[in-house]
Amino acid sequence: MVDKPLGITVSRYIMDLQHMFPEAKGDLTGLLNELIVAAKTINAEVNKAGLADILGQSGKKNIQGEEVQNLDELTNNTIKKRMESCGYVCAMVSEEEEKVIPVKEGYSGKYTLAFDPLDGSSNIDVNVSIGTIFSIQKRITSSSDASSYDVAGTADDFLQKGNKQVAAGYILYGSSTMMVFTTGDGVNGFTLDPSVGEFYLSHKNIKIPKRCKYLSVNEGNYRHWDKNMQKYIEHIKDSEISSRYIGSLVADFHRNLISGGIFLYPKDKKDPNKKSGKLRLLYEAAPLAFLAEQAGGAAMDDTGKNILDIQPTGIHQRTPLIIGNKETVFEAVDFLKKHKN
Ligand code: AHG
Ligand code: MN
Ligand code: MN
Repeated sequence: MVDKPLGITVSRYIMDLQHMFPEAKGDLTGLLNELIVAAKTINAEVNKAGLADILGQSGKKNIQGEEVQNLDELTNNTIKKRMESCGYVCAMVSEEEEKVIPVKEGYSGKYTLAFDPLDGSSNIDVNVSIGTIFSIQKRITSSSDASSYDVAGTADDFLQKGNKQVAAGYILYGSSTMMVFTTGDGVNGFTLDPSVGEFYLSHKNIKIPKRCKYLSVNEGNYRHWDKNMQKYIEHIKDSEISSRYIGSLVADFHRNLISGGIFLYPKDKKDPNKKSGKLRLLYEAAPLAFLAEQAGGAAMDDTGKNILDIQPTGIHQRTPLIIGNKETVFEAVDFLKKHKN
């Protein structure tokens, strides 16, 4: 853990982190810095979202005569454009695109980037917190010889377990804008000072509090759950716990990370194959699972499998997710196993 004073900038923090590894060539530093620039751009767009009606809606022309994109599209393009010729990534996977996104020829790099450009998009129009989630892994389809990076990455580069992530995090566009990330050495949070345009270290070495204060689950889906899940929710509600559900995974996770809580998105019968739930493994569950573990928490599916140990078989694969306070996650999984119908 790099012990840094509160108030240092995120770029300085990342640079100091690089210096702890003399063999590091600066690619991860470069990639994280590109993400920070994308985050600031997205933040500016998100803050204007309420003006969409005035400036023009998606599919129409704005007052400058340009085509207006919806925010999911715009954030997706912002990240893609920044990354495709930065030279640090070999390919990208985005929630918004069915296929692996190639980088520009000649700009292939060492890392993969999977991202949910805008998480919680149903909350955009109602001015509620949303975020961007990212996950970074080392490419595996070529040797570590830098010359072979000229070849683009493929889907195989993304089909790696979450425990192979080298960095993961999110940018939360909330009452303030925060970047929270880990490189496997604890979790740190940086708050954007919009007047300066810098993220400053504000939440050092975040650990999930011992007490599980909040339960976050969409109980509107109760009738679609398996019996054991229904019983578990009844059981946990019969304890000292408060309910909080925003409907933006990233915001629900962040609150539980800071204040203590458990978030569940179980599989439900609405799902055609009835076993996976709604959330995506590569760019929702796995990066948040990495953060949770680094903050002393845990993340599992409903069978008790660690999210970070799931072998992905598809880039948009879904998974049930139980994430937050370690003890409570373990208790939930034990309960579900005992009451399996
Ligand atoms: P996205 O906006 O990226 O599609 O993700 C939405 C997800 C997630 O943020 C949230 O936890 C969940 O959908 C909420 O779903 P319900 O409305 O079914 O509760
Ligand atoms: Mn999402
Ligand atoms: Mn999304």
